[in-house]
Amino acid sequence: MTIEGSAVTYTEYGSDIPKLLGTTNFKINPDEIKPDQVVIKALATPLNPADLMQLRGGYNESPEIQLGTEPNGPLHVGGNEGVYKVVKAGSGSNASQLKEGDLVIPKLPSFGTWRSYAIADADNLIIVNGLSVDQAATISINPATAYQLLNNYISDWQKGDYVIQNSGTSQVSRYVSQIAKLYDVKTISVVRDGKPQQEIDELKKYGAEHVISHSEFNDENFDITKYTNGANVRLALNGSCDSTVANLVKSLSTKGQLVSYGFLGGAEIRYSAREQFAKDLVTRRYWLTANTVADPQGKVDTIKHLIELYKTGKIQDVPYNKLRYKQGSKEEISKVLLQGLSNFKDGKGKQVLFYE
Ligand SMILES: NC(=O)c1ccc[n+]([C@@H]2O[C@H](COP(=O)([O-])OP(=O)(O)OC[C@H]3O[C@@H](n4cnc5c(N)ncnc54)[C@H](OP(=O)(O)O)[C@@H]3O)[C@@H](O)[C@H]2O)c1
Repeated sequence: MTIEGSAVTYTEYGSDIPKLLGTTNFKINPDEIKPDQVVIKALATPLNPADLMQLRGGYNESPEIQLGTEPNGPLHVGGNEGVYKVVKAGSGSNASQLKEGDLVIPKLPSFGTWRSYAIADADNLIIVNGLSVDQAATISINPATAYQLLNNYISDWQKGDYVIQNSGTSQVSRYVSQIAKLYDVKTISVVRDGKPQQEIDELKKYGAEHVISHSEFNDENFDITKYTNGANVRLALNGSCDSTVANLVKSLSTKGQLVSYGFLGGAEIRYSAREQFAKDLVTRRYWLTANTVADPQGKVDTIKHLIELYKTGKIQDVPYNKLRYKQGSKEEISKVLLQGLSNFKDGKGKQVLFYE
């Protein structure tokens, strides 16, 4: 039986995203897939800040994608993360590792996840059976980033060490504080001014030991030892490149590391060279996409660790806003996705497209 699918597609990069994105409908004849391919049905695909950077160009390139079993014109498909259900596996040895109903996520970036059905190479899928759809939808980027941020730079965490992070309200930060707590590492989360007490309490529920506002943190008399009592601040995570970076660096202990991984607050970093010289600090950038391309097995291992943490209840998924799309309905998939983009820009947090 032929499967009808829809995708959020674009043909060129640009900044006027509503103008770029359109809907392309396609057909898959499951009998025509290659032996090591699999037909998968989308369950949920998020909209991440990096997806927007990709649409603008100059970030990770998006390959041209054939959507159905018939060739289409040159097209890119948006999205880098999502969870799917296997509908039909081919007869090849890789595809036969998968069975109908398996929950899977793409292994490599630039899969083009915003589509209701896809034909995937079996060896580009990771099985995530046992997770809830809510967990599986977002496991691949933010929890994976948090896990690698805490494990790629420091391998000898000591009980009572500190990690300090800006953009403390973000999804990444909420996973950082949960995972750090499992290592007996304390988290200080710096957040923009004006956060309601309820949100601060929530961040503490996710494991943040202290939550500090920008104005308090950026005050020239601010002293981190008030919170740490002199314990080691070994890692500073910069998820926004905003005005807090100089004080993240100031807060680090000797031989501490500043790791930058996001720049929603600006594209420049300023901090005191004196601090770096005096304390022999290391500054690094973190990029999950580059890590995954360089070491796909490393990504698979990260996901395996995270699945275990979810299954044993050691970490909880962080809620997000859900958008709904029904295949075959009058509403175009690109319009639903653009509603998510508008919600995100209005500060309504992470948006995930669910497929009915
Ligand atoms: N390098 C990598 O491999 C990698 C992987 C994953 C994520 N990231 C990056 O990590 C960041 C967080 O991702 P996420 O999905 O967790 O995002 P998210 O949940 O949407 O959170 C966004 C965070 O950025 C803050 N923010 C937004 N605009 C800002 C501005 N102009 N100045 C300062 N802070 C601002 C928000 O603070 P408010 O709550 O105050 O609005 C919030 O804490 C993004 O930049 C993303 O691109 C990078």
